[in-house]
Amino acid sequence: MKAKLDRIRQQVQEQILNCDSTEKLNEIRVSILGKKGQLTDLLKSMKDVAPEERPKVGQMVNETRGEIERILEEQKTKLERALREAKMKAEVIDVTLPAKKNEMGHRHPNTIALEEVERIFIGMGYEVVEGPEVEKDYYNFEALNIPADHPAKDEQDTFYITGDILLRTQTSGVQVHEMEKGKLPIRMIAPGRVFRSDEVDATHSPSFHQIEGLVIDKDITFADLKGTLAEFARELFGEDTKVKFRPHHFPFTEPSAEMDVTCFKCGGTGCRFCKGSGWIEILGCGMVHPHVLEMSNIDPETYVGFAFGVGLERIALLKYEIDDMRLLYENDIRFLKQF
Ligand code: DAH
Repeated sequence: MKAKLDRIRQQVQEQILNCDSTEKLNEIRVSILGKKGQLTDLLKSMKDVAPEERPKVGQMVNETRGEIERILEEQKTKLERALREAKMKAEVIDVTLPAKKNEMGHRHPNTIALEEVERIFIGMGYEVVEGPEVEKDYYNFEALNIPADHPAKDEQDTFYITGDILLRTQTSGVQVHEMEKGKLPIRMIAPGRVFRSDEVDATHSPSFHQIEGLVIDKDITFADLKGTLAEFARELFGEDTKVKFRPHHFPFTEPSAEMDVTCFKCGGTGCRFCKGSGWIEILGCGMVHPHVLEMSNIDPETYVGFAFGVGLERIALLKYEIDDMRLLYENDIRFLKQF
């Protein structure tokens, strides 16, 4: 019996010492000391042992049991310590590493300029609306008094989706969408992206932004147009800014004009910035053509209006004294951060 017990103890000890996880250790415990374990079986066979031998054999079995439990416990402690050490090693934090920088973006000069323009017009009671960038030929040209054979169409050659659908060349089409809604009076500005098949250079890009303006009401005159746009220029470029209207031609306004502002760099005396003239052109405008009103079901006998169109990049370039439009599209944070 003693030899048998010794053999079991030795076998088990070997198993335990080779064991590398607490789960496996538990399996070993069950296979020896569990209800159906080897030692438990031995205890059950005590009935075959002679009665006088039983106390001695019982003691031996218990000793072996105690010994195995001790070895199991030792190995468990050892495994748990190793596990803890491995975990600590894996979770180590190197406090000497440089911290991760939180990279912040910056508002784009276009956005800053647009918000400024919106603030000015909202202050005068205008609504800010939007129109589609992919537009029907009708809204971009036809309804603005630019029929199929009109030369103005060539100047604004663009990207056609189909013969009838194109990327809008101007925000002026939003005027038509607003007039068609049939709600009068109208006092709106419509900022948005426009597209032209222009080569990229310091002042051109195939995609840029405009801000359209439209006012339709009774008794509107050219004086309202002048007063509104002069106030706009003063708020945007400074109190001392003067404006000048030069006759021009746009198919959808009659009469039409371009508005210049006194150079805010030299105050009008002439400098490199205004190319010596003292004036800088900033927008196109005019009284809405009666035919344009008619096409959108507004009676030109009762209603009149004025419209204007400003290039957003142009304003951003002027206001922030940026000399190359391409800089606006590179999105270099070192550039953007300056505004
Ligand atoms: N759409 C014109 C352009 O792209 C700008 C413009 C001129 C808009 C006169 C207007 C306007 O509303 O009245 O050149």
